[in-house]
Amino acid sequence: MEKLQFINSGVLGSVSLKAIDALAPEAEVSFAKLTDGSGAGADFLGWVDLATRTPDSLVDDIMDTAAQLRRDCDVIVAIGIGGSYLGAKAVIEALNNSFDAYIPAAGPKVLFAGQNIGEDYLYELQQLLKDKKFGIIVISKSGTTTEPAIAFRLLKEQLEAQLGREEAGKRIVAITDEHRGALRSLATTEGYKTYVIDDNVGGRFSVLSPVGLLPIAAAGFDIRELIGGARAMQKATLDGSDTSAKEYAMTRNALYRDGKKIEILVNYNPKLHFFGEWWKQLYGESEGKDHKGIFPAAVDNSTDLHSMGQWIQDGERTIFETVISVAAQQHSVVIPSDEANLDGLNYIAGKRVDQVNKMAELGTRLAHIDGGVPNMQLVVPALTPYWLGQLIYFFEAACGISGYLLGVNPFNQPGVEAYKRNMFALLEKPGYEKETEAIKARL
Ligand code: PA5
Repeated sequence: MEKLQFINSGVLGSVSLKAIDALAPEAEVSFAKLTDGSGAGADFLGWVDLATRTPDSLVDDIMDTAAQLRRDCDVIVAIGIGGSYLGAKAVIEALNNSFDAYIPAAGPKVLFAGQNIGEDYLYELQQLLKDKKFGIIVISKSGTTTEPAIAFRLLKEQLEAQLGREEAGKRIVAITDEHRGALRSLATTEGYKTYVIDDNVGGRFSVLSPVGLLPIAAAGFDIRELIGGARAMQKATLDGSDTSAKEYAMTRNALYRDGKKIEILVNYNPKLHFFGEWWKQLYGESEGKDHKGIFPAAVDNSTDLHSMGQWIQDGERTIFETVISVAAQQHSVVIPSDEANLDGLNYIAGKRVDQVNKMAELGTRLAHIDGGVPNMQLVVPALTPYWLGQLIYFFEAACGISGYLLGVNPFNQPGVEAYKRNMFALLEKPGYEKETEAIKARL
């Protein structure tokens, strides 16, 4: 039977199996904390069984809402940042036709806003939406985050100007806390359709909640399959029949304790670029605290072999890699033979492009191992909703175990408040008068 395969033999020149296995007792304790709630941040363990707790009726309801948005709109703008953005973006990019934006017949497009404060970005989006039928999915767990709030204020005003307040309201869906936050009050006042983000599911662990499911379904993808994959991985991880998440957590912590401070998530498929972004947030926000944590980076190969490849092969030896290998492609493209052979490529004529890509991957992996870059590999059978669901759960479970192995609370993010405090002080937000005075004195 096909399965997600985790292989860590490529690290053994750097850390021994004995050193990895020595972490097994700690990993068991860390793993138990995820299910018995005895660890730090236990209020945020709702993701552990989210896939199986999500009733099919909710999935059906989300699919109905998505279908209606797709019927009514040419463009659906998903507004959110961090965990309220990256999961949906990662899955949609992984499944989409690479040139979807240029294929109108492929159906409504999901675009993103509120993930930055780029004035030109927002202006250009407003211009694009001027002559489009559009709808909005606004996502914020706290309901108070500045970036999505600005984008929503702008696009809500634009939609209301186009359709009138009542009709606009039918094309807006809000996903937020059940009771708290400005977005909840606004949605209640305006009578929007809403979905709830459970209190015990943190933003970066929320892709399998309505936060990720609605935009993914609105982009036309099968969220039943996605949830199905996550359920299968959840079951196998929790009943112990699949120990790969634990092994990954142990291996990366053994490497970290041996001085490898940076992990690079490597893909050989351009559709996985945003999966790397999602993974960076998941691990960066979960582990980087108390002046500890593996720094998560990501590269897209073979593109980045022509930029970061030099550093990885030959730079400071403080890195290790985790390579996501996609076993099967959706399409076949064969390199043609050419009689003149002016480009000298006839030696690979008749081969599929993916065969060449796989040799680039294997050649790089071996060169990196030889160059002192320990290397883990995760083989995914194919880029489908089902396997993405498995991959998401795998990385979430490993992240929880790994954070506890590191000795931090993987489920809070106190560090992100520092910039907000300064920004609010600089913008003279009511309630921040003392901070405004203090920061002005520094300038
Ligand atoms: O993982 C997290 O909790 C954060 O990255 C949040 O998702 C992000 O800050 C957005 O927060 P909110 O959904 O409250 O707008």
